Formats: sequence, C-alpha cells, structure tokens
Amino acid sequence: MVRGEEPLLVQRPSSEHSSIAAEEEEALLTGERTTRNPKYGRAFWREVGLFAWATIATAGIIILAVVYQKQQQTARRHDDTPGPSGKRNLIFMVSDGMGPTSLSLTRSFRQHEHGLPWEDKLVLDGHLIGQSRTRSTSSLVTDSAAGATAFSCGMKSYNGAISVLPDHSPCGTVLEAAKKAGYMTGLVVTTRITDATPACFAAHVNRREEEDRIAEQMVGYHPLGRVVDLMLGAGRCHFLPNGTRGSCRADGKDVVTMAKENGFNYVDSRAGFDGLKLGSAVELPLLGLFADQDIPFEIDRRFEDETYPALDEMAKTATKALAEATRDSDKGFFLMIEGSRIDHAGHANDPAAQVHEVLAYDKAFSSVLEFLEKDSVPGVMVSTSDHETGGLSAAKQLHTTYPDYLWYPGALANASHSSEHLARQYFTHLRSLPQHGAHSPTSDDLRAYLTDLLATGLGVHDATSEEMQILLGHPEISFFTFADIISRRSQTGWSTHGHSAVDVNIYASDARAAKALAGNHENTEVGEFLARWLDVDVGAVTKELREKGVAFDTVGKGGEAESWMGRIAEEGERLDGWDHLDHAEGDFGKMMHRRCSVCGI
Ligand SMILES: *[C@@H]1O[C@H](CO)[C@@H](O)[C@H](O)[C@H]1NC(C)=O
Ligand SMILES: *[C@@H]1O[C@H](CO)[C@@H](O)[C@H](O)[C@H]1NC(C)=O
Ligand SMILES: [Zn+2]
Repeated sequence: MVRGEEPLLVQRPSSEHSSIAAEEEEALLTGERTTRNPKYGRAFWREVGLFAWATIATAGIIILAVVYQKQQQTARRHDDTPGPSGKRNLIFMVSDGMGPTSLSLTRSFRQHEHGLPWEDKLVLDGHLIGQSRTRSTSSLVTDSAAGATAFSCGMKSYNGAISVLPDHSPCGTVLEAAKKAGYMTGLVVTTRITDATPACFAAHVNRREEEDRIAEQMVGYHPLGRVVDLMLGAGRCHFLPNGTRGSCRADGKDVVTMAKENGFNYVDSRAGFDGLKLGSAVELPLLGLFADQDIPFEIDRRFEDETYPALDEMAKTATKALAEATRDSDKGFFLMIEGSRIDHAGHANDPAAQVHEVLAYDKAFSSVLEFLEKDSVPGVMVSTSDHETGGLSAAKQLHTTYPDYLWYPGALANASHSSEHLARQYFTHLRSLPQHGAHSPTSDDLRAYLTDLLATGLGVHDATSEEMQILLGHPEISFFTFADIISRRSQTGWSTHGHSAVDVNIYASDARAAKALAGNHENTEVGEFLARWLDVDVGAVTKELREKGVAFDTVGKGGEAESWMGRIAEEGERLDGWDHLDHAEGDFGKMMHRRCSVCGI
C-alpha cells in the first residue's frame, strides 16, 4: 500500500501510542499489509524491544523445551536399546505351547523325582521378566504362525500366516534384516524346520501348510537369496523328492540337492551331528535334518540317544558355530532356538511328555546362559512362548464329590514313555498280528499285551475295565487314551486339544538389557525389541521383498499367475499344524488324523 492511500475501513489516529499491535490488527481487519511509519518514536522502539525480547525469550523456552524433550526421548530410546553400540549377539528362544502351568507342573515334577526341597526352582524361574499377550488378527486364540509372525516381523497377522500380513503382502523379518546387516543367522528346532515358528523367520507364505514351498525358500530360493546360515532340526521329509523313502513332498524336487547347490553342507544323522563336535567343526552354511518329521519327545528320545541329538546339544552346537564364524567380524549373530514339542505334548494332552519337554528346554536355556556368560561378545537372550497349548491345569476333578487339593507328580515320574510312543507301539503290534485264521489274536491276548504296555510304558497297574475297553475297541484313538490315563492318575487337567488364549511368560538372560519387555506386553513388542536390539531395519526388508518378490511369482498349470507366497486360504479352510500327520508316517499318520472323526475333537 502506497503511503497516503488510507485504509478504507478504519482510520487509526497517528499518535505516539500507535503500536505494532494496532497496525497488525488493522492489517487483519483490512486484509492489507501494514506499512511502517518512517518516523518511529521511543515508545515504538521500546515496544519493538519488548517484542523482540519476548520473541527471543519464547524461542529460547521453545528451544529449551525441544532440547529437553529430545534428551528425554534419547534417554527413553536408550532404555529401550540397551544393546551395546558395537558387535553383539542375540539369541531368541521360543517355548512353543508353554504356558504358566507348564512351569508349575515341571517344577513340582522335578522336585518329586529328585527329592528336592519345595523351594527348588527351574533355571527359567530365576529369569522371569514379564508376560506376553498373544491374540492374532483373526482370533483371540492364536496359532504358532501368527504368533511367530509377531516375533519375526513385529506385526500381528492371521492364524496360518507365515510372515505375511492380513493383506497377504510379505513383512520383512528380524532374521532377514540381521542377515542383510551382516550378522550370521541360525535356527534350531526339534520339529520340522519348515514348521510355523522357524518358517516365520526365513520364509513368506500365505498358508502354513505350504511346507514344501517353505523348504525351498529356506535353502535360498527366496527373493533375498539365502538368509539362514545354520539350520538344525528335523522335517527331512519336505526336502526329499516324492517317491523316495521318507519323503512327504508333493513334487519331485530334491531340496537337499538344491541346498547343496546353494552352498549348504548337509548332515542327516547322529553320526553327522557328532562330526560337528558341538560346533567346533562346523562349516557354514549348514543344514542338519535328523528325522523325517519330529525329533522324538525327550521322554522317548533319552532312550534313542544314538539316533537323535537333544535340543541342548543342538543349541550348544549352534551358539558355538555362530560365535566361531563371527569371531573376526564386526557383526555378531542372531539365533532362534525353539523347544518345538512342548506344544505337541499339549496337543496330545500328555503331561508326562510335557514335563520332560520343559526340562529339556530349561537345560538348553541354561546352556545359552552359560554361553553368554563366557563369550566375550556382548549378548542377550530373550525367551517366550507363542501361546499356551492344551489349557493345562495343575489339578483335575475326577468325581462329583468335592475334590481334595492335590495332584500327583509321582504318576508322571512312573511313566517312561509318551502316549505317542505307546500308541505307535500298539499300532505296530496290531499290524504284526495275523488278522484271520487259527492264530488271530483273542481279546485276552490283546488285553495281556496292553496290560504289559501300560505297566512298562506308563507305570500304570490299575487300568479300569472301561479304559481297557476303549483301548481294545478304539486303537485309532489310543494316542489320546494313553494320555488320558496318565492325566487321570496324575490328576492334571486339560481343557482343549488345541491352543488357549492365556498370557505367556517372558524370560531374559539379563533383565536390565531386556528392560523394555518387563511387565505385560503385546507379542509384537517382543518382535520390536529383537529388531531394535540388533539395530536392524525390518521395514527396509519389507520394501525389498515387495519389489523383488514379483520376479518370483510363477505361472500355474492353468496359465494363471501364482504368487511366490502360494495360495491364499479360502474362507473356512482349516489351518491346522497337525494336518501334516495325515500325509506322513503312513498308517500311523492316518490313524492320528482319524482321531477327529472318532473322538469328536
Ligand atoms: C511326483 O511329483 C511330480 C511332479 O513333480 C508328479 O508329476 C508326480 O505325479 C508325483 N509322483 C507321485 C508318486 O506323487
Ligand atoms: C508309581 O509307581 C509305584 C510303583 O508301582 C506305585 O506304588 C505308585 O503308587 C505310583 N505312583 C502313582 C502316583 O501312581
Ligand atoms: Zn500348536
């Protein structure tokens, strides 16, 4: 505005008292920029001074506030990231299906078996720091796939999802991000290495049953190439071409050969495992598969030690091998160790198998603590469960009369084998018998056989006639009948053959280092902690997977596009980790599967 063109709306008196504020107000009213009177008086300059001072003071306060807040944030971040700034190792342990009651049961069992005082604890008990809430996006009761996706990606997804999100896009995992950042990586399990928990760290599929596809991805047929340096466990059947002994693949791909082509050393026997010398003679990358399906439950494996390695031995081998392999690197390693079959004992409702699985996990946990104590590289171990299995309770009411307050660990100590092992023995026995003619067995013969089996396998000498009738009449559900017999004798209860929604425990080698997980947390926060502690970027991996994955899509038989992550489950399609039993182990697998139609589970 040119001087002389007075504002139309308001005429301000030109006085010593006119102020910047008045001019600003005028400008607001007129919508015009104000011009400064060239002749500014003392009052004007005083006001300018006051204004400037106020501005500077305000700015100063704002800057101070921002700096303070930054400091607070840094301090908070520092609390969350207690990891050292340099080289570090992270071991993440998963006790699949282990709920709080599993600990009470195992603690009392151990005290009973070894005559220990009532205050004797498990090693795990001394390292409890918090609890994890486990629900998935699709259910209040999660499965291991959604559970492990929360750990690997730090995000919730649906039951059955192997590190894919509800929109069926892949999410980068902490293991993949660690590999890209220069860490060495490993997975140790006692079930199939293609099962949900390990798969979620190194594969992406829409449905957990796609274990053939998972096997290929895990040995490096993956948009990011090979991301795992060491795998020890079982599930060999998904790596062998169909038609060969021990295979459960639907196609003729030889994934062991594919792994070797990608540089993997391969061992598949106890002798091969012993050759690794507990980790001092390992050349990475290494694939070690020691059973077609699962390594036997610890309660059975202890009698087959020449055939199968124990979880603890595999954990020791993995930590040692990865520590050696990263000795001269400025990056350490990320290792996931799973006590996979605590979950299976829960599905079976077999308390005797369960306590031995938890003890085996406790032993491996203890070995990891020892490794961390001795190793010069700073490291932390966090241990948690994906969910509880079985709705286990340390009490069971057997009669309508008001129950006594007790349960009997002695009944678990009397059992020398799992119900799975006994059912397999019974089934093998039945198949060996001539079905017709003079030598076909009488029910008395079978009764005598079962009486002996119950005595030697379960330490049960008082089977009721009803229990005997069920075993004789329904061998196809004997797996569950044996488990029920031992549950009744021990007075331990179960509410389901599936999973439950109870919060699960979080443990750590170092409560201070894992302070961010103290208290009650969502399972995704465990995943966030892992990535933050390693200081790796899972978001960048997600982006890379989405970009590179497209090139891995294939063309199906009908010419239709097929995602590299496989088919999406249809509405209502059952996603059940136990379905693998159907196509494995021949008749025994079929028998296990038929349980559903017979016992209505
Ligand atoms: C094995 O897989 C191939 C495809 O790779 C298939 O054509 C063949 O029918 C399968 N054989 C058996 C016995 O399942
Ligand atoms: C364990 O076995 C012993 C010897 O057969 C028996 O006396 C005892 O009652 C059993 N314990 C339980 C709790 O069943
Ligand atoms: Zn399960």
